[in-house]
Amino acid sequence: MTDNIDFSGRSALVTGAASGIGAACARFLAAQNISRLILVDHDQTGLDALQLNCPVERYNADVSDESFWLAMDEQLASLDHMVVNAGIGGGGELADISLEEWRRVTSVNLDGAFLTLRTGLRAMKKSGGGMRGGSAVVVASITGVKPVAGIGPYGVAKAGVAHMARIAAAENAAHGIRVNAIAPGGVDTAIWESSDNFVQSVAAIGRAETLKAMAATTPRGRFATPDELAGEIGFLLSDLAANTTGTVHISDGGYSF
Ligand code: NAI
Repeated sequence: MTDNIDFSGRSALVTGAASGIGAACARFLAAQNISRLILVDHDQTGLDALQLNCPVERYNADVSDESFWLAMDEQLASLDHMVVNAGIGGGGELADISLEEWRRVTSVNLDGAFLTLRTGLRAMKKSGGGMRGGSAVVVASITGVKPVAGIGPYGVAKAGVAHMARIAAAENAAHGIRVNAIAPGGVDTAIWESSDNFVQSVAAIGRAETLKAMAATTPRGRFATPDELAGEIGFLLSDLAANTTGTVHISDGGYSF
């Protein structure tokens, strides 16, 4: 019997790989014998800190920069898997936020995800994704499924990328390429540091208590770890999920019941 979670002989592109869920995905794929990892992040220090036991190419780039992806189109002659993951937080009610803030969040979380997916799909098609079982996972959010007040541009962008994954699945099934989205609930990563409320709460009661309080509305009672998310993303990428495409997989500890 073949080991369907083994990625040897395969290549994968991961964005937002310097931290949190993206770094955990890079570690997961390296542990599953991936033969080529292409990591993209605008945090060079974080990228360099990743110690991975596999061939790695590290790119310091902004995922919303189209010129970077056009250059990658030239370079990437083949690709088997991708995790469209880089993202930023953003708060504020729709009635209050500026167009500038809207564009700051959507340029990374929506435009950046589109540019990543476009380049990845082009490279997968070049390598004839079908025979090699190409697959992509787009990291959306439960806030793109369930409306949550106060994070308008973030939630809209995440709903957009989830639907983008489903459209990409419909467009590429005939090429043997699977595309799924994952919609996490709270995950314990650095993304929360960009929230003023989070930072204030950490200063007042500490990080552990802050996360515990935030998880009070989640039946599981706690945030997920990046490694837990990486396991589910790895499953969706792998041949174990060969029959799964066009789904938005919810991984939220029951938050959206
Ligand atoms: P994180 O902050 O730990 O990691 C995000 C990574 O993306 C960082 O390394 C950052 O440098 C990189 N990044 C941000 N903007 C970039 C840009 N313009 N170009 C290149 N790299 C960029 O956060 P986390 O939680 O690991 O986030 C990963 C994804 O998971 C994001 O798309 C986020 O929206 C999503 N997510 C996170 C949740 C959470 O509770 N942490 C919940 C639901 C979704």
